[in-house]
Amino acid sequence: MAPLAVVAVAFVAFSLPPYVSLDPARSRVPAPAFFPPHYVVLSLHVVFGSVAMLTGCLQVWPWFRERHPRAHRLVGRVYVLGGCLPAGLLGLVVGLVTPFGHVIRASNVLLALLWLGCTIAGWRAARRRGFVEHRRWMVRSFALTMSIITNRIHTAVLLVLLEPELMTTYHGDRALLTQTAAGLGGWLGWVLPLLAAEWWLERGDARRRARRRAATRTPASPVG
Ligand code: HEM
Repeated sequence: MAPLAVVAVAFVAFSLPPYVSLDPARSRVPAPAFFPPHYVVLSLHVVFGSVAMLTGCLQVWPWFRERHPRAHRLVGRVYVLGGCLPAGLLGLVVGLVTPFGHVIRASNVLLALLWLGCTIAGWRAARRRGFVEHRRWMVRSFALTMSIITNRIHTAVLLVLLEPELMTTYHGDRALLTQTAAGLGGWLGWVLPLLAAEWWLERGDARRRARRRAATRTPASPVG
């Protein structure tokens, strides 16, 4: 848990300042001319996204869930209503008007819809006390919340890896190279964590099934 929390706090500490400064000139995403409220929408997205990231870390901590079930319910409401839902809806808007091209636009929109969908499914499962399903949907939701960090890492690595191809594959067009890195980084950023979350859930289920089989097996009876 500690490394996860450190990474989340560091990401939020790095991400927030330009968007709580109320100074559009500090935005790291250029605002499209046709969408003047871009900075406001993006800033609110980042604030709510930070709430989702920090509360999500607390929610997946087994010690916190087991020792403080009431706090888990309360923080869970903040994760959903004060984090994922507003950040996802605002992410959908900034995703649609992104200045970084169609490839990242498709990735952003699909990611926002999946994030909203997994979070709402997890919330509804908890409301009807389906805690197995609740856990599964919230693991997916949290993997998508944190995927925004792997997204940045992939994009930064891809920018370095593609640089030698600037004058060949990209014909000297830096904007094209940047859009390619952003597009690939965007897709890989959430597809890989979501696949990892599915693998982790399946692995846990397989282990539980094996334990149940072992527990129900009667003491060895002589065969043959
Ligand atoms: C998982 C669903 C999310 C989606 C779909 C999403 C979408 C977006 C989009 C579309 C942008 C603008 C960049 C562009 O135009 O391509 C953006 C920027 C940003 N998002 Fe999210 N986001 C998500 C989650 C988060 C979370 C959980 C955080 C946590 C703090 C976050 C923090 C940021 C920051 C800091 C920026 C500004 C870019 C920067 O300064 O590096 N996002 N997001």
